[in-house]
Amino acid sequence: MNHQSLAAHWMPFTPNKGFKTQPRMLTGAKGMYWTTDDQRQVLDMTAGLWCCNAGHGHPHIAEAIARQARTLDYAPCFGFGHPLSFELSERLAALAPGNLNKVFYTNSGSESVETALKMALAYHHARGQGGKQLFIGRERGYHGVNFGGISVGGITSNYKAFGQWLPVDHLSHTQDLALNAFSRGLPLHGGVDMANELERLIRLHDASRIAAVIVEPITGAGGVLPPPAGYLKRLREICDRHDILLIFDEVICGFGRTGEAFASQTFDVLPDIMTTAKGLTNGAAPMGAVFAGDHIYQAVVDEGGPGVEFFHGYTYSAHPLACAAAMATLDIYEQGGLLRRGAQGGDIASYFEQGLHSLKGLPGVIDIRNYALLAAVEFEPLPGKAGASGAMIQSAAWEQGVMLRALGDAVAMSPPLIIEKHHVDQTVGILEQSIRRLYG
Ligand SMILES: Cc1ncc(COP(=O)(O)O)c(C=O)c1O
Repeated sequence: MNHQSLAAHWMPFTPNKGFKTQPRMLTGAKGMYWTTDDQRQVLDMTAGLWCCNAGHGHPHIAEAIARQARTLDYAPCFGFGHPLSFELSERLAALAPGNLNKVFYTNSGSESVETALKMALAYHHARGQGGKQLFIGRERGYHGVNFGGISVGGITSNYKAFGQWLPVDHLSHTQDLALNAFSRGLPLHGGVDMANELERLIRLHDASRIAAVIVEPITGAGGVLPPPAGYLKRLREICDRHDILLIFDEVICGFGRTGEAFASQTFDVLPDIMTTAKGLTNGAAPMGAVFAGDHIYQAVVDEGGPGVEFFHGYTYSAHPLACAAAMATLDIYEQGGLLRRGAQGGDIASYFEQGLHSLKGLPGVIDIRNYALLAAVEFEPLPGKAGASGAMIQSAAWEQGVMLRALGDAVAMSPPLIIEKHHVDQTVGILEQSIRRLYG
């Protein structure tokens, strides 16, 4: 491809002009590796965009999609159904914790978030509490790119040109380097105090106006911030006390990223609504799923009037090809015990933790944090170039054969759950070289 032929595609979340002068083109993928257009093998330490949890190129998923395309390529989902989506829902409900037994399909994480926010509003409306319309998100939270998601989200660049169009307020983020730098696993300090800020926001806005709190159990795109010990439980207690719903955005955390199917299981805190996408189909087909507690469904659907109970849905909700991909993905997760393979304290997560923390003491490294198979290394901002070092380390690592994710002055890793120790060694070696190259 010449540079001219790149002109028509307006790429998402990409410096388009930079990319088109120096394209990074992927042409194939298998297992832990990408193939590039110049025939290099690059180690995927990001599971694509936090989504290819079982690694790339599974014939079982490819065949399931192809078979489904030949059998039933599409089925309208408003007022009609197809058996596979019901079968998939039973399977997902069995995997999910507690009473999260009702599954609503979307096509992405962003749509899952919008759906969850609307479910929360519908729930309160159905119970005669339509005044509860305000959402509490969190600074540095990422909940996709639609208007609800950027409103509850807490990453300024994602909303500054577009506004925040829901009534919202935000908890502070949970990173405190003075207290918790170089934490292994959950940061130990400050969790309950940080969560207690919710009490202040409730006093400010009044519980009668607040619909829900939405957080990622582990902040992902905002920098990979595992929750300090006690934080999530405390949020749950406060929400319960004030009849406020708790939504966990598990678009990254779901499907094995924290060593259980869902982070709510890992951290033993049950939300009222849980958003997922990404790992649901191993990234092989666009699909999201929102899990609602039985009480949500009961209030909105069982006790709703006749006719359509929830005026919401997408043309491609429960798309047959995506359902087939999800069913095949669940087979792979279940057969290999893959969802638990990366558990914190387990063999591979401990090796990953040990390897990354060996970088402590290198010039420019101000934090290393990890939980299960999620991690970030953070760098001192370069003079006059705050927020640029992550992309520079990412580029250096890419040239040497490892894909990392740049997040401001940090790089993040969320490898496929099939990662082996030699992949960790390769990554740590290349990270060290890249850091030394930039920081001397
Ligand atoms: C926690 C979280 N929520 C929502 C989204 C949005 O997902 P999508 O890009 O599929 O719309 C993401 C994407 O990274 C995410 O990390």
